[in-house]
Amino acid sequence: MKIQIINGPNLNLLGLREKDIYGDISFDDYFKELKSKFQNLDLYHYQSNVEGELINKIQEVGFSFDGIILNAAAYTHTSVGISDAVRGIKTPVIEVHISNTKSREEFRKKSFISPHAEGIIQGFGLYSYDLAILSLLKD
Ligand code: DQA
Repeated sequence: MKIQIINGPNLNLLGLREKDIYGDISFDDYFKELKSKFQNLDLYHYQSNVEGELINKIQEVGFSFDGIILNAAAYTHTSVGISDAVRGIKTPVIEVHISNTKSREEFRKKSFISPHAEGIIQGFGLYSYDLAILSLLKD
């Protein structure tokens, strides 16, 4: 089973950035743990701070992979382009957030991704990504 994790802007700073909200582990370290937990899966990780590059990656894997776990970060709340990309592909997309965006500022409550996502998991720290994988394994 091929699963692509796609992380958007500033998530390259995990472990350094706003640790009270996002924790103190880098995504690379967490991704190593994830790969050892789910050794039977083909897990890939891509991160970009650039909106068009995220769209390119969604299109690239969106007709052949079994699942996409997408944390579009700040673009979640602004990007019609990423929303259209998610809408246009065949691969199911699980929207993930580390923090509970519904309990934060008003502008984070809007998601352009949610209407086209298979499901949404948020607020469990990095464990949100574990839960997203488990959700893809359910059937
Ligand atoms: C985030 C929440 C977004 O509102 C924010 O812009 C991020 C990270 C999260 O994982 O909690 O950068 O997607």
